[in-house]
Amino acid sequence: MIPKVRKAVFPAAGLGTRFLPATKAMPKEMLPLVDKPLIQYGIEEAIQSGITNVVIVTGRGKTAIEDHFDVSFELEHLLESKGKDDMLQAVRSISDMVDIAYVRQREALGLGHAILRARDLVGPEPFAAVLSDDVIDSEKPCLRQLLDVYEYFGCSVVALMEVPRDQISAYGVVAADPVPHSGMDGRLFRIQDLVEKPKAEEAPSNMAIIGRYILTPEIFTALDETVPGRGGEIQLTDGLRHLLRSRPIYGVKFEGRRFDAGDKLGFLKATVEFALKREDLGDPFREYLRHLTV
Ligand code: G1P
Repeated sequence: MIPKVRKAVFPAAGLGTRFLPATKAMPKEMLPLVDKPLIQYGIEEAIQSGITNVVIVTGRGKTAIEDHFDVSFELEHLLESKGKDDMLQAVRSISDMVDIAYVRQREALGLGHAILRARDLVGPEPFAAVLSDDVIDSEKPCLRQLLDVYEYFGCSVVALMEVPRDQISAYGVVAADPVPHSGMDGRLFRIQDLVEKPKAEEAPSNMAIIGRYILTPEIFTALDETVPGRGGEIQLTDGLRHLLRSRPIYGVKFEGRRFDAGDKLGFLKATVEFALKREDLGDPFREYLRHLTV
């Protein structure tokens, strides 16, 4: 029997340097896309995919994340007394969303290190990892697409996306062979190798890893044995490469649109697209954009 994935880990201890000065005193995970913080998009995707427990790996200056998912008595009381039921509902649903546990990553030693910090809270079971910078708009949640593959093979699975060669060195990159599989239309791959942020000329392909992973618990031992790589950090990609020596890893070219919301331009694009899709804002916003001189 293939064990069920119940937990999702959200690394959120990064310094957010790509978004300074906004992130000097505010976690980048709390930057709002329209009216919801980035991390909430990821958590909602996890819940819609069937995840019941969330582990957030935080660091210094990240208490706003904990407060956001906690009950706010004062705010609820105020909204209740003013009869603002819709808003009350919206605020309450955040704290009711899912069971969240927190663990600190005291030093920013890399994504692989952040995952290792969640080891005790995850225990010996498979889990998902979600990077909330990568916001994915799709009909079927991206994590669910990965879980479908995990539930068939019982192996680790990463999300893949083709990116232009001149951007490839910003990503973990895979060498992978297509695997025929019903309903996947050539989007399923067996990973042969992984490299973290290679130079464009050394990249094994144009297929980048995007921030959604299903990981079997052997990743913890693999990460334990992984030495610091790119940027002197313990990289998850290197841990996966280590894992690949003993276990198969699959990749899924997911269906949907991904926004790099950790980047200023990507964040602006996501803001516009998500605002246009909103029932309450879409029409007036479209109207406003139409009249812009660009
Ligand atoms: C991380 C991973 C990288 C992956 C990327 C996806 O890099 O290390 O392998 O391709 O996320 O967004 P980061 O963007 O945090 O530097």
